[in-house]
Amino acid sequence: MPPTSKTVLTRDVSAAADMLRNGGLVAFPTETVYGLGADARNPVSVARIFESKQRPTFDPLIVHAANVESVRELVLDFPQVAQQLADAFWPGPLTLVLPKRDEISDLVTAGLPGVGIRVPNHPLALELLSAAGCPVAAPSANPFGGISPTTALHVRDGLDGRVDLVLDGGPCGVGVESTVLSLMTKVPTVLRPGGLPIEDLEAVIGPVARAVSDPSRDDSAQPSPGMLSRHYAPATLLTVIASGQTAVPVVGKRSGLLTYGASEVASGFDAVERLSETADLQTCAANFFAGLRSLDSQNLDVIIAHSFPPTGLGVALNDRLKRASG
Ligand code: TXA
Ligand code: MG
Repeated sequence: MPPTSKTVLTRDVSAAADMLRNGGLVAFPTETVYGLGADARNPVSVARIFESKQRPTFDPLIVHAANVESVRELVLDFPQVAQQLADAFWPGPLTLVLPKRDEISDLVTAGLPGVGIRVPNHPLALELLSAAGCPVAAPSANPFGGISPTTALHVRDGLDGRVDLVLDGGPCGVGVESTVLSLMTKVPTVLRPGGLPIEDLEAVIGPVARAVSDPSRDDSAQPSPGMLSRHYAPATLLTVIASGQTAVPVVGKRSGLLTYGASEVASGFDAVERLSETADLQTCAANFFAGLRSLDSQNLDVIIAHSFPPTGLGVALNDRLKRASG
């Protein structure tokens, strides 16, 4: 551990579970990104999440549960379509927004009637949730608006001293946040594209709607309040170009390239992150935030990124790129 760091990294699940039960903040691995967890029934602990991340309180948190039975206990209604989705995709990178019961603190849902809930697909997360015995509210474990963490060290880099414990489960396998689907609307509505491709959802429940944000309303009044136009953002200027376009460094500027596939020639760049040699979107997603973070740490003036094919995980990756450059 670097001599200056205050936050402890551990693999001790029962210590982490005790910490959560006692009102502490525990960062933990999921298959998507690391979460910054607190007992969702404890408003004081939940308030600490917002404070620690400097997150606006209009932005609701996702609640994590160990299994479908626990999810049922937190919602007023668990419709047939939710059961179909749970059977197909839980544990996994799908968050369902369902009408909440009173024991979920209003702070968690930012006063909304629906709560976003998921069962994460990561052995340590599932062990932690079972051992803690409480629903765990957890946003991504990074300062608000910044790049999401996919390793325990990323968490400590961003939140050192502001989280009580980090449960270290190695790098996250999926690499982008969960797909958020609201079941509060007549037609199920995707509020955020994510680690579960929309095609996979539609193969199980048929056509879904896509929420579009309304630029004339402020961020707190959007259908998915946390989906800000600038988010997931590096400190370095980021420019996105079409997937087929040849990337050229900016004259006189230290330029970095975020790309994928073996064919792109990257001559003249000061730094290059190639997310996947074969342009495989799963590999791109798994490496995406770490690649962006690495470029952001290299004192560049500009990062140029290729957009992704707009299918499967490419939809979520393009959404993150758009907001990161917003
Ligand atoms: O994969 C993930 O979803 C990760 C891991 C830790 O589970 N969590 C995550 O949380 O990405 P966060 O806070 O970074 O993003 C949560 C977003 C909110 O900003 C909002 O857009 C949407 O999910 N959301 C959560 N609860 C909602 C609700 N009740 N109604 C509408 N949107 C909600
Ligand atoms: Mg986040």
